[in-house]
Amino acid sequence: MKNTVSNNAKNTPAEIPAHIAIIMDGNGRWARKRALPRTVGHKAGFNNFVDIVDLCGRIGVSYLTVYAFSTENWKREKSEVNDLIRLMNSGIKEYMPEMQRNNVKLRILGDLLMFDVNSRTMLENSVKTLSGNTGMLLSICLSYGGRQEIIQAVNRLLDEGKREISESDFEGYLYTSGIPDPDLIIRTSGEIRISNFLLWQSAYSEYYFTDVLWPDFNKEELFKAIESFAARKRRFGR
Ligand code: IPE
Ligand code: IPE
Ligand code: MG
Repeated sequence: MKNTVSNNAKNTPAEIPAHIAIIMDGNGRWARKRALPRTVGHKAGFNNFVDIVDLCGRIGVSYLTVYAFSTENWKREKSEVNDLIRLMNSGIKEYMPEMQRNNVKLRILGDLLMFDVNSRTMLENSVKTLSGNTGMLLSICLSYGGRQEIIQAVNRLLDEGKREISESDFEGYLYTSGIPDPDLIIRTSGEIRISNFLLWQSAYSEYYFTDVLWPDFNKEELFKAIESFAARKRRFGR
């Protein structure tokens, strides 16, 4: 799906994917290049996330889904995990008024039971506060894994005693229920892999890989990704 926006804003690509998903990778390497601690890289990554969310909202993206913390990321050093959770807590709280001003709706995708009750309450309250907004839907994947998402869906189906379901029924049990599949999936930092992101939903997504590290992925880089997407011919097997 593509949205066509009136191209008033100079340098705005004419054809905007309705749903962009981003694997925001490379914070650690960005910090290492500057001989800084990894947490400084994560802070720079968070600041860039804020800029990219604002930009996507302004150019007419309907759905933006970002991979912020994977089920596998729990295996990192405890100190890094704690830094990331602290940054998430303070960052989202600080960013709330701006999301409210920008009419952004929020969803959190992932196994929230992995977080402590304070973080969970903060996330749930943020979603509630922004639920009346009508602009772009920002989905943040936290403690998210594509396999975990599919297995929790299957377990819920088993609990409900279902014996046979359709693809569209199944989609209703995924965290992304009600959200159309991503049109464009971007991964920064030069890794050419999925790392357990949106396994079901990416069946026909277009991928864009760039060597740029996430904190450096600016407007120009986003527009390059969108131009690359716009130049492709999607066939969906037809
Ligand atoms: C992405 O940056 C952020 C998270 C996965 C939380 P990384 O922390 O993976 O940075 P690199 O890949 O080590 O550079
Ligand atoms: C993927 O990045 C997850 C996020 C960006 C949140 P990783 O850095 O965790 O992925 P791998 O380990 O390089 O595959
Ligand atoms: Mg990484």
